[in-house]
Amino acid sequence: MELIICKDEEAGSKRAYQIIKDTLKKKPNLVLGLATGTSPIKLYKLMIEDNLEGNTTYADVKTFNLDEYIGLAEDHEQSYRYFMNQTLFNHLDILIENTYVPRGVGDSCQNAEEYDEILKYLGPADIQILGIGSNGHIAFNEPGTDFNLTTHITDLTKSTIEDNSRLFNNISEVPTKALTMGISSIMKSKKIILLAFGEKKADAIKKLLSGKITSEFPASILNKHHAAIIICDEKVASKLSIN
Ligand code: F6R
Repeated sequence: MELIICKDEEAGSKRAYQIIKDTLKKKPNLVLGLATGTSPIKLYKLMIEDNLEGNTTYADVKTFNLDEYIGLAEDHEQSYRYFMNQTLFNHLDILIENTYVPRGVGDSCQNAEEYDEILKYLGPADIQILGIGSNGHIAFNEPGTDFNLTTHITDLTKSTIEDNSRLFNNISEVPTKALTMGISSIMKSKKIILLAFGEKKADAIKKLLSGKITSEFPASILNKHHAAIIICDEKVASKLSIN
């Protein structure tokens, strides 16, 4: 696993964006795996800016997202589909029908099966963007999740609900279940970029870099990926012993 330390979130996001841009140049019909949350927001801004300036096109790009809250419809302001439309898709020249996010409403088992079919059809991500939870979750694969699972329903842990409650009016509004891509699908990605900015991510990155692979810390599986890159800032790096 490669570790890239950048000065700050801005520099780290630029570094990640450069990788996307270079790959997009070589492969205009890129398959991009995307995440929600705070970590990729600056990266998405850079994608939008460059696209608006006409330096890139997403006309042939297909994307899929990692996860969605169960119970939130596409037009719910806290749904991940809504977040992706508002934060990225509505501002790019991408075809919205080429963007896939798991469905949060309806029969979740069926939605999970259908999402796996979509992932099969799209093929592995050329680049998968990830954030990391303080408990080591990637997508919503919480501690204890079987590494072999594909898309599945998961119960969110107390720490994830607490972490995510900042975006809701009240913690009681945070959904307790989600539909998430499984680790086995994430590990098929050709390249993975995990973004980690700010002191709050330092302990998780330290644990990840210890190299011990355990389902109790789901991100640890990334140590086995042939092309996983962590891009972090100096706030994270300052807590790593390599510094
Ligand atoms: C989001 C996702 C989550 C987040 C993680 C970090 O689609 O799958 O795993 O990446 O919870 O969230 P932020 O970036 O908000 O700290």
